Amino acid sequence: MKPFDQKTKLAEAVFYDFNLLRVISRFGIFPGFGDKTIGEICEDHEIDPVFFLIIVNSFTNKRYFPSHELADFSLNQMVGYLQKTHSYYIDYQLPLIDDMIDRLCNNQIQANKKLIVVKQFFSAYSKELTDHINREEKVTFPYVLKIEEIFENNEITGYKASDYSILTYEKEHDNVEEKLIDLKNIMIKYLPEPFDHEMLIRILTELSWLEKDLNEHSRIEDAIMIPRVKIMEAGIRKRL
Ligand SMILES: [Fe+2]
Ligand SMILES: [Fe+2]
Repeated sequence: MKPFDQKTKLAEAVFYDFNLLRVISRFGIFPGFGDKTIGEICEDHEIDPVFFLIIVNSFTNKRYFPSHELADFSLNQMVGYLQKTHSYYIDYQLPLIDDMIDRLCNNQIQANKKLIVVKQFFSAYSKELTDHINREEKVTFPYVLKIEEIFENNEITGYKASDYSILTYEKEHDNVEEKLIDLKNIMIKYLPEPFDHEMLIRILTELSWLEKDLNEHSRIEDAIMIPRVKIMEAGIRKRL
């Protein structure tokens, strides 16, 4: 598929992948954009179109890799976008699924004690994802922003080679969406009756969306943020 560009109508991109609505909402863009192109909408919202297209294209196309644009976007806006996504998981998507699982259990926990396994699994998963996010927010993102600041302002004296580098992050960055597949597996294959079928399908839909979104989120961290930081780290070391 040809990547979307500034001339693409945003509505066309959304029709291609409806879930883009959730992604563009993180930029403050909501339905009602008529036939405006991506370039026009970015101008209206004062958004960097290069960065916007990196996010939209990597969300809709797994093979998309913005090699030639790598030098053209700021890590500051990327970190801002990733933080908004983190808040969406913590404040909205995890509580929503938790609440749905509560309703699944409350209706039938007496008749089906196995439902508690779903509840416990999700609760452990939520904690794991929250810890993953907290580590990025407290350690990784401040480091990334600092590296960009040093690189841009040529403040080499502020750079100290320390234990932490983007390589540390790359090594420890685990795959948080894998366990969601395990949970879906339990719910689809091994959950005995009785349960609220409609609620189970809705939970699976939300889990699948979370899995896809997390997948794209991690890909942006791994395939776009890490290489960009590595370029800056190398540039700083050369100037030392
Ligand atoms: Fe993250
Ligand atoms: Fe991550």
